[in-house]
Amino acid sequence: MDTIRTVSTQPFKDQKPGTSGLRKKVRVFQQPHYLENFVQAIVNALPEQQRRRLVLGGDGRFYNREAIQTILEILVANGVGEVLVGEEGILSTPAVSNLIRQYQADGGIVLSASHNPGGPDEDFGIKFNNASGSPAPESLTERMYQETLSINQYKRLPLPPLELKAGREYRHGNTLIRVLDSVDDYAALMTRLFDFDRLQRAIRQGKVSLTFDAMHAVTGPYARRIFHDMLELPAHLLRNVQPLPDFGAGHPDPNRVHAHELWDAMMADGAPDLGAASDGDGDRNMIMGRNIFVSPSDSLALIAEHHRCIPQFRSGLAGVARSMPTSTAIDRVAKHLKVPCYETPTGWKFFGNLLDAGKVRLCGEESFGTSGDHVREKDGVWAVLCWLSILVDTGLPVDELLLRHWHAFGRSHYCRHDYEGLDAAAADAVLQGLLAQAGSLRGTSCDSASIATVDSFTYEDPVDGSVSRNQGVRLLFDNGSRIIYRLSGTGTGSATLRVYLEQLEQRRDKLALDSIEHNRRLGQFAHQVSRIQALTGAAEPSVIT
Ligand code: G1P
Ligand code: ZN
Repeated sequence: MDTIRTVSTQPFKDQKPGTSGLRKKVRVFQQPHYLENFVQAIVNALPEQQRRRLVLGGDGRFYNREAIQTILEILVANGVGEVLVGEEGILSTPAVSNLIRQYQADGGIVLSASHNPGGPDEDFGIKFNNASGSPAPESLTERMYQETLSINQYKRLPLPPLELKAGREYRHGNTLIRVLDSVDDYAALMTRLFDFDRLQRAIRQGKVSLTFDAMHAVTGPYARRIFHDMLELPAHLLRNVQPLPDFGAGHPDPNRVHAHELWDAMMADGAPDLGAASDGDGDRNMIMGRNIFVSPSDSLALIAEHHRCIPQFRSGLAGVARSMPTSTAIDRVAKHLKVPCYETPTGWKFFGNLLDAGKVRLCGEESFGTSGDHVREKDGVWAVLCWLSILVDTGLPVDELLLRHWHAFGRSHYCRHDYEGLDAAAADAVLQGLLAQAGSLRGTSCDSASIATVDSFTYEDPVDGSVSRNQGVRLLFDNGSRIIYRLSGTGTGSATLRVYLEQLEQRRDKLALDSIEHNRRLGQFAHQVSRIQALTGAAEPSVIT
């Protein structure tokens, strides 16, 4: 029997968590001590009494399995009481969040780089979720980061390769390792939130049909169990449900660019009523109807509008929240429902306190993220079940639901321009430049609207009072249009500048227009006033979604 080793190490200076944990290239994580340092820093940042029980799992991407073994060896050496690990080290991000809550764990470690590609030359990531199942708040990630800067040793107990089959248990040192089925508890949770009998009946009777694309990522087994085994959706309507370490060389990002297989299927004749896709770790969702794409901001607003079709929300929403760059469509629904709508910085961690305090029950981000108060992560499969429930309950097709929504509330024509591959300092100069010329920008017009406010978004958490500054530069127009600029916090290489465009449209003949087309002029305006080309060299956005 090996004994616990104390291994000498030196700090890496680049282990500051971003929007969603620490994301780096696989090769960076493979450096000796790199992963080990970060995991030890997580443990060090946790008070003794919060090392009782932890959940561990990842999205199955390249390096997942090796990392799971290493992490188990470190957690055992540190005397963590119990580790609940997913079968083969696989758990979707919402499933981890659920397990933490269900088993009253002190937290969990999620291995994922979300929608970023996987493979030996691609991305890997690790993040910590707290006892409520929420991504660690900034105060905790900052503590972890400080630990990484001063670390000089970590503990490790070398273990034989652990076979991670559901039901297995191992005892090493003072730690019990229990292997859980990746899907069971999550599927059981879904049956408590939705009316499965009704959905199954509607599918069996052909009243509603769905095609789901797992993009060769973690939701494959979840989709098979929930949509096929439980709801009896024919297997051929499930696409790419075999998880692969490199996601089939694809980009597991459910949007119109990367989920083009689903896109094409939904735009073809005879498409099912609903099309959906999820990302690498199962927290994102893309929703489509026959011949129509539902923007994530609209999806959030429609779920709020029709929340009574969803058993989970029958008792009302209490409140809702969206990230600042997400369109204001949900604000209008919240006003109609007479519930508060909170505006938070980008990143799911900012919803955690609001959900814990019962101030909100539904939240979402423009970046294909939606969820409720059943977990503390966004939840891709859950969002699909929401939409299925709405279709079954209203009996209306997706395009009709959208049209009715826009007629009632107006439409936020919304799109995002991403400028990728920028020099970080140059990208930052764009934001600083905008703030520096705030005075002269005020009053400047694009078409008939003029800029009323230029500011840098600051958020004060209404629950714990913590303040987060520099969360994006906003140009707010006098007619409600918005241009938001912020730097991505999830990249692993060069900088990405995101420019979010929103224009509210009330005129009936303009409601169904293509949003990308509709926002073209505002996008050019955003490009010019921010001097993106002069400062970064980028002549145009690299991706428009
Ligand atoms: C992106 C999204 C953000 C989301 C995050 C994690 O972060 O914009 O909404 O929470 O991924 O999925 P960003 O790269 O913009 O920092
Ligand atoms: Zn994700």
